[in-house]
Amino acid sequence: MACACAGAVCAGDASPVHADAWPRATWPFPKDAALERRVSDLMAKMTVEEKVGQLIQADILSVTPDDVRRYHLGAILAGGNSKPRGTVTATVDEWKAASESFYRASMTATGDHPPIPLLFGIDAVHGHNNVVGATLFPQNSALGNAHDPALIREIGEATAAEVRATGINWTFAPTLAVPQDERWGRAYEGYSQDPNIVAQYATAMVEGLQGKVGTPQFLDGSHVLASAKHFLADGGTTNGKDQGDAQISEATLRDIHAAGYPPAIDAGVQVIMASFSSWNGRKMSADKALITDVLKQRMDFQGLVVGDWNAHGQVPGCTNDDCPASYNAGLDMLMAPDSWRGLYEHTLAEVKSGAIPMARVDDAVARILRVKFRAGLFEAGAPSTQPLVQKAGEVVGSPAHRAIARRAVRESLVLLKNNGGLLPLDPRKRILIAGEGADNISRQSGGWTLNWQGTGLKNADFPGAQSIGAGMVEQVKLAGGSAEIETDGHFTAKPDVAVVVFGEDPYAEFQGDLPNLLYRPGDDHDLELLRTLRAQGIPVVAVFLSGRPLWVNREINASDAFVAAWLPGSEGGGVADVLLRRRDGSIAHGFHGKLAYGWPSTAVVGQGAPQFALGYGLTYASHASLPALSEVSGITGEQIPVGHYLERGKAVHGYTFTLVDAKGASVSGDVAPASAPDGSLHMVALDYKAQEDARRFTWQAGTARLSIRARAPLDLDRETNGDVLLAVTLRVDALPTRGAWVGMGCGTGCEGRVAIGATLSTLTPGRWMRVGVPLKCLRAAGADMHHIDQPFAWGAGKGTDMSLSRVSLGTDVDMVVDCVKR
Ligand code: BGC
Ligand code: BGC
Repeated sequence: MACACAGAVCAGDASPVHADAWPRATWPFPKDAALERRVSDLMAKMTVEEKVGQLIQADILSVTPDDVRRYHLGAILAGGNSKPRGTVTATVDEWKAASESFYRASMTATGDHPPIPLLFGIDAVHGHNNVVGATLFPQNSALGNAHDPALIREIGEATAAEVRATGINWTFAPTLAVPQDERWGRAYEGYSQDPNIVAQYATAMVEGLQGKVGTPQFLDGSHVLASAKHFLADGGTTNGKDQGDAQISEATLRDIHAAGYPPAIDAGVQVIMASFSSWNGRKMSADKALITDVLKQRMDFQGLVVGDWNAHGQVPGCTNDDCPASYNAGLDMLMAPDSWRGLYEHTLAEVKSGAIPMARVDDAVARILRVKFRAGLFEAGAPSTQPLVQKAGEVVGSPAHRAIARRAVRESLVLLKNNGGLLPLDPRKRILIAGEGADNISRQSGGWTLNWQGTGLKNADFPGAQSIGAGMVEQVKLAGGSAEIETDGHFTAKPDVAVVVFGEDPYAEFQGDLPNLLYRPGDDHDLELLRTLRAQGIPVVAVFLSGRPLWVNREINASDAFVAAWLPGSEGGGVADVLLRRRDGSIAHGFHGKLAYGWPSTAVVGQGAPQFALGYGLTYASHASLPALSEVSGITGEQIPVGHYLERGKAVHGYTFTLVDAKGASVSGDVAPASAPDGSLHMVALDYKAQEDARRFTWQAGTARLSIRARAPLDLDRETNGDVLLAVTLRVDALPTRGAWVGMGCGTGCEGRVAIGATLSTLTPGRWMRVGVPLKCLRAAGADMHHIDQPFAWGAGKGTDMSLSRVSLGTDVDMVVDCVKR
């Protein structure tokens, strides 16, 4: 086929698409003359401005109800960090009030403008996870192990009801990625590496969320619009890089990565989200061959295609607020969270000039309106009049929904080792529950939990939820045994057995990308805890929390029983249900989970046969004993996570530390003590958590600075759009002037500096703090985020005395500085 992509992205067109070799699907809605009449009647009354408004989705942090009314926007969303009042603690009532006011704004008639109800989308990806008190289901990589489509359907129904109860009508789920490389930070959003499991679950989840086509339940008041995402091959990118490039054949693209889409379309999915990623160098957000020829024509998808979060801005020739190529490739609505206003203006001009053909606009608007009609939005009335919204308090986090989640936890646990038949445990014994995950609901829930990354949360943020440890204690006490939670493993009376819960910290999207499958490189304290307990003659059960399989052979060797618990969510009690016997000794619930992802034998992706293959999982009937596993990871050298620039007071591999004086002369290296050539900046070593793991600086002149240079320039544009911070672990001892700043350099004469003196002046002298500088502020201050050659530069006034231990990208900080350009 000839080049079918748009404008600049077409260059080279190395990968033609043979649409007729792709599977077909059947759009399950017969032609509906009445619906078509409603759509065309409505469109006949719409101005071009109103049509363009329908094509845009804005985020609630950057748009007001009044904007929605004035610009006739078709949709809003609440992104992972976007809550009413801008706080994670927003209550169900506040969510209801927000959806109510946006809905009402969309329905305000002005002049001849026909009111069109608004779509409101949210990432309800493991339950209604943005809302305090909602039921949090296990993440998708856990659910894959259950091999139970009926369970998935129930989870979809329960999630839909909780979403509807807050007045929201659309979820950005299910993710139908088929992750092939678990280094990918979104692997946990995919059900399985096996396309067959993904295909089965696609049907079940779409029908659960939307209801079954042809039944009265379909898109009724207790269901929501579903979005199959991210089309296509988000899970097939090279090296598992998020938003990367899937360098694969058309056959792999079709047979592995597209497996979930025909079943989702057959089940009537109303929305498909285009992926941030590329296929053989071509951005999906502008791939006409795949979006239009394959998805809309070959697969007969007649719903709406939405773009991902400013993803169109990554298309060559586009920016966040201007991208005709995406619309022309077949995307019907662009997600322009904070860029909607500019996108509206540019798109309007392009429609008027013909750069986006009117026929394309009409097709997109018609698709959006059909979805709104099918969803019954024109009849549903204001959220406050809807039955589920009226009884939201009984729906969100209801006992019935929690019971489904708890069953899902039980079904998704996978038993990897059970030497000597240590499990199930006798609940009448003395049980120690240890490890950092023992009483940590945030850690057991992972990313996309109350905020985007799922970080910075405490148990009190999860009313109604139960930690794994609390679930154990409750059941052991009922059975007459004794159980205590001691995170660090200390005990007064020697326990009969220890259950150690540990695992990955929460992360989302690219922040979870890994260079290899090592678990916590450079930090062995979980392993030491297992070994210490074992050395005291205490049998150890390891409960491993992770979004994906990681290389943990040493931890497996150091335990008698090993349970892969994935990210189970709010119902931690489901773990105790399986680990403990009943008081009478009988087994209440066995292990049913079978791996939906192969478990690696080394930390090198693709090296050697898996340690535990797809489908592996012991039961209480198996009596196999696992011999010691190899402790050779296959990885050598110090492991530095991506996005870290300074660790323990030293620049990490690939970066150089320099002290620069007023004349620009510099000395490099982090060996202390050292001084800038003219003596204006002095550095000594300092102890923070360990010996000499920090550096202390004194400024003799305000013109001196220190800087960390990257050997190869970094592209931080994506992180910038994602609200990531430059997180600096620092200590202030003397700050005689407020001249302190943090900067990023982008080549000769290019730099963005943000003033941080006002923030630093509020810190207690001598106290270590994590201070965050939003990348967006650095960009606004002039840094070209595509070409950062100095990810960190630091200056301050004469007499300043400050110390530094760590500089990295992140979101978990104690305070965020205001955006003030310096
Ligand atoms: C993610 C999507 C998500 C969207 C809205 C994007 O960054 O890739 O999966 O639905 O944000 O939050
Ligand atoms: C938003 C998420 C979004 C992400 C994209 C975050 O700030 O809250 O919804 O997916 O940015 O990078």
